[in-house]
Amino acid sequence: MADAIAAQIHRDTKAMARAKIPSSTLKVDSQIFFTHNHCSLVLLGILTIFEPSFNKTSKTMEKIKGYTYGQVVQSPVSLAELDLLKKTVLFSSDDEKHLQLAGEVLKDQTNEVLDLWYGFVGSNEHLVHYFGKGGKPDMEYLSAVRLRFGQWIMDLCNKPYDQDWLNYQHEIALRHHSTKKNKTDNANAVPIIHYRYLVAFIFPITATTKGFLSKKGHDTETVEKMYAAWFKAVTLTVILWTYRYINENEF
Ligand code: HEM
Repeated sequence: MADAIAAQIHRDTKAMARAKIPSSTLKVDSQIFFTHNHCSLVLLGILTIFEPSFNKTSKTMEKIKGYTYGQVVQSPVSLAELDLLKKTVLFSSDDEKHLQLAGEVLKDQTNEVLDLWYGFVGSNEHLVHYFGKGGKPDMEYLSAVRLRFGQWIMDLCNKPYDQDWLNYQHEIALRHHSTKKNKTDNANAVPIIHYRYLVAFIFPITATTKGFLSKKGHDTETVEKMYAAWFKAVTLTVILWTYRYINENEF
């Protein structure tokens, strides 16, 4: 099922690329940026410039611009509350183990994963909207966020869900919300990502990952376990990211 959906997203992205074949095609920093009629559509292609970014050593990762893991304010959510959330999404030590395995499986595939996700965002005008202003995507912003997005894949799988992890989830929450959106990259873009899309994104971010998890020869049961662990981890983080959008005492 998830494979079929991921394949559909693949096909949709490619079909969009074909359907919107550009009247003009500009190249910006190795990114292929298509425009069509009056509306600007960024399509996929945040490409090889990112190759050296992750998939390499953690030293390289530390240099990612705007990646401030371990240097942010304390989350208003406590570790005890996080534990109860973990319990509620049925996140167990077995999930932790399979999430780490997912990290190993995904570590040399992050660029392909990101190509797919960026293709999905780029082929949907209502989503690419959040990376720019007045119909114009900010290409530097897209690139900068992409590097941190790649790092997030690894962090989701490998980092202990401790106070630092919790704090950084809150930082990412603020960066999607008007509190801090655009500030990290000094971007010229709309001021907030609407709550509804954060939640809606859980599905594509999950479904599209399954194909990548099955690429390293693990048996079906193990792939299913990695997939379930990934789904729970994404759900958990998105819940934490919505904190700032919810009325006080209602989170
Ligand atoms: C499951 C849902 C989502 C995931 C996993 C996700 C992942 C991420 C990550 C990892 C970052 C970088 C965090 C950092 O600075 O270290 C980020 C930032 C960003 N995301 Fe998302 N995101 C989600 C939903 C969305 C949606 C629906 C949009 C809108 C199309 C979006 C647009 C952005 C933008 C514009 C930024 C940059 C924010 C800033 O100005 O700092 N994200 N996202």
